Amino acid sequence: MLYDLVIKNGTMVTSGDQGRLDIGIKDGVIAALAPSIDPELATEVIDAQGGYVTPGGVDAHVHLAQEFNSGPSGGAGMCADDFESGSRSAICGGTTTLIAFAMQNRGDSSLLQVVEDYHAEAMKTGSYCDWAYHVIISRPDMQMLKAELPVLVDQWGITSVKLFMTYAALQLSDYQLLDVMYEARKLSITTMIHAENGDLITWLTGRRLLLTHLTVEKLEEKGMIDPGYHAESRPPIVETEATSRAIVLAEMIQNPILFVHVGSATAAKVIRDTQSRGYPVYAETCPQYLHLTWEDLASSPTALKRFHSPQCFENSKMICSPPPGPGKSDQEALWTGLRNGTFTIYSSDHCPFRYNDVRGKAVGVLEHAASMADVTCPIDNEHVQEIVHGKTGHFKYVPNGCPGVETRLPLLFNYGVERGRITVERFVELTSTAPAKMYGLYPKKGALLPGLSDADLVIWYPPGRLDEFSLTNEHLHHDTDYTPYEGMRFGNWPRYTISKGKVVWKEGALLGSPAAGKYLKRAASQFTKAAVESIASDPARVATWLYQ
Ligand code: URP
Ligand code: ZN
Ligand code: ZN
Repeated sequence: MLYDLVIKNGTMVTSGDQGRLDIGIKDGVIAALAPSIDPELATEVIDAQGGYVTPGGVDAHVHLAQEFNSGPSGGAGMCADDFESGSRSAICGGTTTLIAFAMQNRGDSSLLQVVEDYHAEAMKTGSYCDWAYHVIISRPDMQMLKAELPVLVDQWGITSVKLFMTYAALQLSDYQLLDVMYEARKLSITTMIHAENGDLITWLTGRRLLLTHLTVEKLEEKGMIDPGYHAESRPPIVETEATSRAIVLAEMIQNPILFVHVGSATAAKVIRDTQSRGYPVYAETCPQYLHLTWEDLASSPTALKRFHSPQCFENSKMICSPPPGPGKSDQEALWTGLRNGTFTIYSSDHCPFRYNDVRGKAVGVLEHAASMADVTCPIDNEHVQEIVHGKTGHFKYVPNGCPGVETRLPLLFNYGVERGRITVERFVELTSTAPAKMYGLYPKKGALLPGLSDADLVIWYPPGRLDEFSLTNEHLHHDTDYTPYEGMRFGNWPRYTISKGKVVWKEGALLGSPAAGKYLKRAASQFTKAAVESIASDPARVATWLYQ
């Protein structure tokens, strides 16, 4: 047969075009696009019945099989998903490529060892889809950077690093940020920045001093420690200041950077202004910033109304950093940023911690034993399980992050494309094509180019074909015991997910296998490599002599 699979009668969409084209697939690769392909030439045929056919999602920001110590001194949470369950959840929501984080802890002197160990974790379970790694650097010894970064690029195809400006266990000083950015620039490594001012957060949260007359009345002293107050410890200026500072550092040494999980309208504005004067700054936002706020409106689904209500541990489900913005106007500003190009990519930041688990959100109760006495949650909710029932906790010990790898594409399709906020082409660009280009996977991923692109595809339901439904956690395939998007309405969902030519998800049935995914070595970013070569230097901002 000429084709293993032909998809007929779909509206094929790329980041630039759409059209009624049939798609022929052979040996896991896109083989042909044509107005009509003879079904007799194919072993298998799928009738898309007029639904959109989009490239499979590339989720460039997921945390899997990762222990994450996000409190200042708090116990570490363990991600609920490993590569098997995380990738299973991904394909059921239309994502066919994942980039996860191999994380260096301060005790790890070798990044190569970190990557080898993390890779062993991934290989233990396998993955339902292809995957790659970024590396988190928390101990940037110069000798190690010089010796190991080139090996990471050459042998592992790891061409991106993430640096933190907050979290005691991960925070780098400005000096250290410059050290890494400088080495990264030489190797065309993309520098991803978690921009929050860690000192500001620690100060606002407060430390109890022995000499009480020296105590400033901060959140802890005021007893404002329940999970709902997490956002108070990180008002938007915390992210905005760090974003501005990182831009100054990057520009000084001419290193293009990408801001991950941008949550506030004001940080987005700083990024937009910098882009407008021509400096290459890239940015990512995530579903939690488009759909959650400090205080959701009464018309929102019930789960979201709980966010930020005091004295209820259930708010810990929504704790992520940066936190979502205070109100609806922040969300609208981020939607604008998705439309006008401020945001290059849209990722999930899937960082799943079970609610009812001693290694999950409940760390925030257990690490804060004092809170276990006397305080009761005012919400009488049967979902509040034994570990945390009737308890409060301290937000600073709660592992940060929300699950979302499976809901990423459906949320943007339903609330972006179907509600007219973005075009379907922009949807493809944000969810697939741009992340593939950003992280050196294009055109194997993120495109539908005959002979060049893997046959990773999503076929959506034609309009009106799927009955609208309210999401519950039972719909999802992660190993997490909640979704922040409980109760939200969906009128479309990936009908089929196809990974390297194989149907892995079909109308609610999981068909894939964790043996199918392969590790991807990546090339340099197509965006930042070009940018480094074309940056114009302003001696008022740039150490122009550095490269002379
Ligand atoms: O709260 C978040 N975003 N948790 C995930 C870890 C990170 O910083 O990406
Ligand atoms: Zn982060
Ligand atoms: Zn993250």
